Amino acid sequence: MSDTPTLFSTQRLGALTLPNRIVMAPLTRCRAGEGNVPTPLAALYYAQRASAGLIVSEATQIVPEGQGYPSTPGIHSDAQVAGWRRVTDAVHAAGGRMFLQLWHVGRISHQTFQPGEALPVAPSAIAAAGQAMTRLGMQDHPVPRALELAELPGVVESYAMATRRALAAGFDGVEIHAANGYLLDQFLRDKSNQRSDAYGGSIANRIRLLDEVVSAVTAVAGEGRVGVRLSPENTFNDIDDSDPQALFHAVATMLRGRVEYLHVVEGEDRKTTGEPRVDYGSLRTAFGGTYMACCNYTPERAAAALEAGHADLVAFGRLYLGNPDLVTRIRLGLPLTRSDAKTWYGGAAKGYTDYPVASTLEG
Ligand SMILES: Cc1cc2nc3c(=O)[nH]c(=O)nc-3n(C[C@H](O)[C@H](O)[C@H](O)COP(=O)(O)O)c2cc1C
Repeated sequence: MSDTPTLFSTQRLGALTLPNRIVMAPLTRCRAGEGNVPTPLAALYYAQRASAGLIVSEATQIVPEGQGYPSTPGIHSDAQVAGWRRVTDAVHAAGGRMFLQLWHVGRISHQTFQPGEALPVAPSAIAAAGQAMTRLGMQDHPVPRALELAELPGVVESYAMATRRALAAGFDGVEIHAANGYLLDQFLRDKSNQRSDAYGGSIANRIRLLDEVVSAVTAVAGEGRVGVRLSPENTFNDIDDSDPQALFHAVATMLRGRVEYLHVVEGEDRKTTGEPRVDYGSLRTAFGGTYMACCNYTPERAAAALEAGHADLVAFGRLYLGNPDLVTRIRLGLPLTRSDAKTWYGGAAKGYTDYPVASTLEG
């Protein structure tokens, strides 16, 4: 009997049994309603994709200060919890499972998003190159305010509070967003973290905030309901590290036995890169639990990664935008629809809930 996994093998994830190894990656769509509340259209969009083994929601700000883009949903108000409850109910009714991605953008923001038009916060007062999309048009990211040591317990608690709210909204678990140059990634990497206290300097110090967030979130949700997303090579949002292999090996080791899955953006997000600067196999071994790979996977490469033991789960980002029934299309070898990048962010149903399913062909 061979137990070589395929994309259609089941996978235990905490108390869940995923019916397949195909994950919908987190995808920001900038379509939340008034008060950054998910709309009924979001419930339809996610329910259309419920055949995924697991859905990871679009990044969702845990506090108002965590926002850096227009119309991204939050999980800090009662109205947002109610909006998300509509989404999780629709996904569960359609037979799916869904985690919420917990997000704080840190310095990748602008005063116009901040309560009281305050400066965005970050590990250090270092501006990110690049611009924010604000109601005043594109604006440079400002020099952020470095968080005081005394403020960090409050940041950690805001992850715990958001987790409580996510569970109240009916999510099956949460994914801590420590990737793509946002707050937790800003603490991890030495280009953006130049603190001289216990949260900066050595690798042990730079991973401390994530370590504390993991403790706080798992204390609320239980370790079986928590994943962590990392992007060791990504330079998106002006982020970098002098030794990504050592840093992310330490992070994976720190996470071992403490969370249910490790989700890794392998490479430069949305770009084809050359030789990897990080040995992902070594991260997987250091973590020791369920490993979810993402970034530029085709169905063929994903199947090969599972078969080779490189990954347990594969998350698809762009393919899920245009193919709500991606699982069926892969299973039947049907053509895949390329999504229209002009409708990725903002707007309404067009390019969001109007991609057709091919499952009528299934007989
Ligand atoms: C429109 C769009 C929105 C995205 N939003 C998020 C997000 O909210 N959180 C996140 O961690 N990554 C986000 N990503 C990155 C994807 O999750 C994924 O890592 C990336 O698309 C690479 O995977 P792919 O090659 O399968 O598309 C986004 C990507 C796209 C294209």
